[in-house]
Amino acid sequence: MTAFLNRPFSAYLAREVPAPDEELTQVGPGTPCGEYLRRFWQPVACARELGDVPRRIRIMGEDLVVFRDGGRRVGLLQLHCTHRGTSLEYGLISARGIRCCYHGWRFDVDGQILETPGEPPTSTLRHRLCQGAYPTHEFGGLIFGYMGPPDRRPPFPLYDTFELPGFALEPAGKFMLPCNWLQIKDNSMDPVHTSFLHAISSGYQFTEAFGALAELAWKETPFGMIYIATRRVGEHVWVRVCDFMAPNVHQFTREVEAATEEKVASRPVIIRWAVPVDDTHTWNMELAQVDPAWGLTRDEIARPGFGQSDDRPYEERQRHPADFDAQSSQRAIAVHALERLASTDRGVIMLRNIVRDGIRAVAAGRDPKELRREPGPPIATYTQDTVLRIPAEKDAEADRRLLREIGFKVVRGEGRTRSSGDR
Ligand code: FES
Ligand SMILES: [Fe+2]
Repeated sequence: MTAFLNRPFSAYLAREVPAPDEELTQVGPGTPCGEYLRRFWQPVACARELGDVPRRIRIMGEDLVVFRDGGRRVGLLQLHCTHRGTSLEYGLISARGIRCCYHGWRFDVDGQILETPGEPPTSTLRHRLCQGAYPTHEFGGLIFGYMGPPDRRPPFPLYDTFELPGFALEPAGKFMLPCNWLQIKDNSMDPVHTSFLHAISSGYQFTEAFGALAELAWKETPFGMIYIATRRVGEHVWVRVCDFMAPNVHQFTREVEAATEEKVASRPVIIRWAVPVDDTHTWNMELAQVDPAWGLTRDEIARPGFGQSDDRPYEERQRHPADFDAQSSQRAIAVHALERLASTDRGVIMLRNIVRDGIRAVAAGRDPKELRREPGPPIATYTQDTVLRIPAEKDAEADRRLLREIGFKVVRGEGRTRSSGDR
């Protein structure tokens, strides 16, 4: 922690920028956080990106190639051919596996060598070598990879929001932020920013209801944590709950709630993974629950939400900044030693503690507590918008207490707060 500045005109005394917290932010192979993230399945590409040529990708500092072969199987291989290193992005996808362009070695999706055509027929080389490969799992239009130790591969986790009655799970946005993964996740448990960045400071980017300051609470769950943001909007109380699922997933409701009429738990969600490319670049990859009645095309679903990506002119972003601008401008890697955390940052602190505990568990040879080893029922989550008609207490402090109580009641599923079909 650097010295607190508490005098006017004192920048001269605080020019030093300490190093970021390496334990929480470095993602390369062999780093504590990198090993932690590699214990979980991570989305590495969208199925829509796999065409008739291989796709070069970089995930957590590793260069890889992803492709779908003629048998519709997906391969996730190390980029450089095990023979003499030519990039498999120039490989030829075959009926089974991929063939390196340089000397024709052909690799199956699990890395086994199927052919070394220039070698003598008696050669046993191909039985003694493998190309580096990672297991994949295709789900919801995303390609997931498991990049951890082979003997520690967990089952693919299913969240209850992957299946919601009346909604279709669709691959949605994929967009890059030029910054470290953790500050993107910090944002997911920082609901006060929805009142400022998305309403009061920049103009209403969602609904006007977001401009009402919320009573905030956070709570750990077996798989991560939630925030509960409860707002008074006239005669109504709006409870918005969002989940963070360790290590790098969060889900949230669409930002369409106006809070003008009662509504039982409404939970079409967007589920978002922050997948590091390296320490200073991160892909956000999304699945979204979409009501077919909205009439959205695939392209519309795939478009990043307002202000999420670098798709607006600089001047417009200066006048109406949004998530991309706030998160990526905290430096390429936010420096925790320079932060002055305040009461509304309790969720950020809780999230970092969850991540740090997971990192230290892995470093000590254990599983992070959020990792499921046994296949079970879908993981229960809480994300929802619930709106109740409840007149305000006359006294402002009493009304704030009332809002906090209502928030927790909604999360516990008490009263008229559960939608019948959803959970
Ligand atoms: S470098 Fe790939 S086959 Fe020779
Ligand atoms: Fe935001």
